[in-house]
Amino acid sequence: MDDKILTADKATAELISKAKNDGVETVWDRQQIMKAPCGFGEKGLCCRLCAMGPCRISPTPGKGAQKGLCGATADVIVSRNLARMVAAGTSAHSDHGRSIAHVLHMASKDGNYTVKDERKLLEVAKRLGIETENKDMFDLAHEVAEYALNEYGKPFGKLTIPPSVPEQRRKLWEKLDIVPRAIDREVVAIMHSTHMGCMADAESLITMSLRTALADGYGGSYMGTEISDILFGTPVARSTEANLGVLEHNAVNIILHGHEPALSEMIVLAADDAELLKLVKEVGAEGINVTGMCCTGNEVMMRHGVKIAGNFLQQELAVITGAVEAVVVDVQCIFPALPELAEAYHTKFITTSPKARITGATHIEFDEATAYESAKNIVREAILNYKNRNKEKVFIPGSKNHATVGFSNRTIINHLDKVVNSHIDPTGTFKPLADCLTSGVLRGAVGVVGCNNPKKVHDQSMIEIIKTMIANDIIVVATGCAAQAAAKAGLLSKDARRLAGKGLATVCELVDIPPVLHMGSCVDISRIMELVGEVAKLLGVDNCDLPVVGIAPEWMSEKAVAIGHYVVASGIDTWLGITPPIMGSEEVVDILTNRIEEMVGAKFFIEEDPMKASRQMIERIELKRRRLDKKM
Ligand code: SF4
Ligand code: FE2
Repeated sequence: MDDKILTADKATAELISKAKNDGVETVWDRQQIMKAPCGFGEKGLCCRLCAMGPCRISPTPGKGAQKGLCGATADVIVSRNLARMVAAGTSAHSDHGRSIAHVLHMASKDGNYTVKDERKLLEVAKRLGIETENKDMFDLAHEVAEYALNEYGKPFGKLTIPPSVPEQRRKLWEKLDIVPRAIDREVVAIMHSTHMGCMADAESLITMSLRTALADGYGGSYMGTEISDILFGTPVARSTEANLGVLEHNAVNIILHGHEPALSEMIVLAADDAELLKLVKEVGAEGINVTGMCCTGNEVMMRHGVKIAGNFLQQELAVITGAVEAVVVDVQCIFPALPELAEAYHTKFITTSPKARITGATHIEFDEATAYESAKNIVREAILNYKNRNKEKVFIPGSKNHATVGFSNRTIINHLDKVVNSHIDPTGTFKPLADCLTSGVLRGAVGVVGCNNPKKVHDQSMIEIIKTMIANDIIVVATGCAAQAAAKAGLLSKDARRLAGKGLATVCELVDIPPVLHMGSCVDISRIMELVGEVAKLLGVDNCDLPVVGIAPEWMSEKAVAIGHYVVASGIDTWLGITPPIMGSEEVVDILTNRIEEMVGAKFFIEEDPMKASRQMIERIELKRRRLDKKM
């Protein structure tokens, strides 16, 4: 590997060097071997939907093959490929939501899973129109779970849209016929319509993609968040630390990596088990240090203050510290490279989900019915592995930063209530936030979300964008790996107020919040959608009228493509810091970055340079402010 700067994060840089010294490979080595990505794939111009192909369209208009064997044009091929990305992303989030609904369905008083947040259960039951009076809490929980599970496959009707969606938006979706039907149905509809010989019209495919993505944002993801809150508690603000420096020299280090909280919640509980703590003593360790990575890390960080070892591109580096007894994974964003890498150290790489089995892993299937015992077995494996740690191979970087996390909407409202004069204004609403936006104390809000991608310097774009936004009095809400980048850079600490503009700094001081609010995992972008919708409703406008934008500066997954589509369909302009595989079709680019605005009042911006993207976002926010002023 040449000496190109690969990361903005010191701990990451130190461990990339260690990898080199240890003679093990990382994603950056494989990127170098791969050289440039496939030019056809990068533009979305390769089709392998049938066995007459694969066909690839020349990226130069008018030169070489301009159509597949079936006659599919670049516009058709690009839009079909994109629609399939949306379908895959939607299925990942929604299958996560489904699993959590199944867990709710098995919740019981004395079982492994119970109801931690009865108030949330009642709120969700009410929004679904389920009678709550005189009902046993668990009966109600099971009814909510059944309702949720039916949303996946109901044969008739439409998805139950949450009341946080403004009326204008809901009507617009109806007019455009993009209100989702059942969640699974929308995914299947895309898979069918993109089968060879079906849909061959870019605009119709993009419209379908919006409908499917809405099934994610207001169906699968939304329920994933709500039901997790019911089961495990709605997050409240709490302190934690982030980066690989949270690993400990004398403790059994366990990394939880993946997405669904059903497993990670149980591991956190099992790490306190008396029998296991006795075993810890026996193996000569001082304790069990459970840490998180990616979204499962966000889930337990929000609810328990579990420390974050790092974000997506640090998963291999955690193993390379030589200090990790077990990497325990469930689903999504897990490198298949991990088992081989773990073999070069003493780390046990443990898969737990039948949805994500990985060759070379130790598989300990996590059974929700016997969840606590399953979790204990996993933790026991880690403890027993402590004796195999080779102290000479250990390097734990010094870097870690303090973070305040846990900003669910309820927690945000509780903080806002601190500044409400209850004789004049109602408590329990986002009104103070709406007032700050309309008065201009806050110029706007931006959601910084998404993954890491080695096409970019790790974490750099996210940090630059966040710093620019807060300096310009734009409050940031963050989820996923972007939130973890912010945590590592100290931007989730209350001290980060000193980097904020005067207006934002004052708001942070009064409301007692950091300038960047950690709102959870990627499925928790549903919290951001709820927040935006509620503020729009308070002001009597639509989402697209608010000075609010979103950006995924370093995205990589199909889930991010689905998110982008539902955020735009919700009326929020969305920046992509990595160019999506659509540049092979002028038509698709024109629809997504231009014409779609006429449909839904928002569009995509593609800008890889973080400073340029920041300037565009500020301009757009100011434009929205001027328009909003005229409306008010
Ligand atoms: Fe080629 Fe058409 Fe088959 Fe795609 S569907 S592989 S473009 S013949
Ligand atoms: Fe995620």
